[in-house]
Amino acid sequence: TLRVFSGMQPTHNLHLGNYLGAMVNWIKMQDTHECIYCVVDLHAITLWQEPKDLRRHIRDVTASYLACGLDPKRSIIFNQSQVAHHAELAWILNCVARLGWLNRMTQFKEKAGKDKEAASIGLYDYPVLMAADILLYRATHVPVGDDQKQHLELARDIAQKFNVDYAGEIEAAGYKDGFFPLPEPFITGPATRVMSLRDGTKKMSKSDPSDLARINLVDDADTIAKKFRKAKTDPDALPSEVEGLKGRPEADNLVGIYAALAGKTAADVLKEFGGSQFSAFKPALIDLAVAKLSPIAAEKRRLEEDPTYIDGVLADGAARARAIASPIFRQVKEIVGFVSA
Ligand code: TYM
Repeated sequence: TLRVFSGMQPTHNLHLGNYLGAMVNWIKMQDTHECIYCVVDLHAITLWQEPKDLRRHIRDVTASYLACGLDPKRSIIFNQSQVAHHAELAWILNCVARLGWLNRMTQFKEKAGKDKEAASIGLYDYPVLMAADILLYRATHVPVGDDQKQHLELARDIAQKFNVDYAGEIEAAGYKDGFFPLPEPFITGPATRVMSLRDGTKKMSKSDPSDLARINLVDDADTIAKKFRKAKTDPDALPSEVEGLKGRPEADNLVGIYAALAGKTAADVLKEFGGSQFSAFKPALIDLAVAKLSPIAAEKRRLEEDPTYIDGVLADGAARARAIASPIFRQVKEIVGFVSA
């Protein structure tokens, strides 16, 4: 079977990078796959979170998932800490993963900053927990933005090594092609890496000190318009071919955003806007973004008023997630050689 797993950290309000890089594919995959979407609160605390902010963000991100169009009837929507097997499997996988593999992770280097000795062990171990998230459900496809590619390669390496380390037990249990499927990254679309609106060479991110650098899914129409109006550009007109975007990171980014919002390719967008100045393109982009994003913000505001409903979605999702995870985790423990009652 085809099973999708993905997650986002409840450390902030979702932004346009989260939406176009991952969420748009999450929504589509509901039609074709069994989908499990997680609010990864265990990952969030790898950097210290104020508890009352974390609590609020978990419900906020869940509300955003629903407002964007995830359907809690078809998809499993839950928060990671409610399913204990994530942390348990992460421990076993810690003993499979190699120190050298983790030492190569570039995101740790960025997030740990200068003083690596002072980083939490959780921050270092983060990619192993991410592998556990995926493998706990024996998921086959993982829709994410481009920045998660290296973590997914690590998840595949861990799955592969587990399959080899325990090949005898795995075969004896009747699995022909290893126990864990190697999860496929699903990184597609015109905006797999949305860049900052202030600097086309930097990723759009929650941690950018300037709020003008990103569009938040809760921004109102005026704010969206202001941010795109102030977005950095170069002085030239848009090219009529995609090749013409090379070396023009800001133009490339805005065209990618337009394409992703419109459900078109960058080539289509340039067919329409090639030769236009930004003074003509930006208003079209603003209209499109406001039309697509305002209903999401409105729906999120509506959902926020009913935290009981949100908590209910999470509780139901956790029960359904556990029902899939429990038998898989029981099998993992048997394969490893643990004795259970
Ligand atoms: P997180 O919370 O940083 O981001 C959530 C998703 O949004 C994507 N994304 C972007 N895509 C395009 N352009 C951007 N500027 C941009 N910024 C963020 C991310 O690629 C991601 O898909 N480690 C993950 C969470 C995670 C996870 C998992 C994902 C934990 N366990 C298991 C998949 C499977 C993270 O920190 O995402």
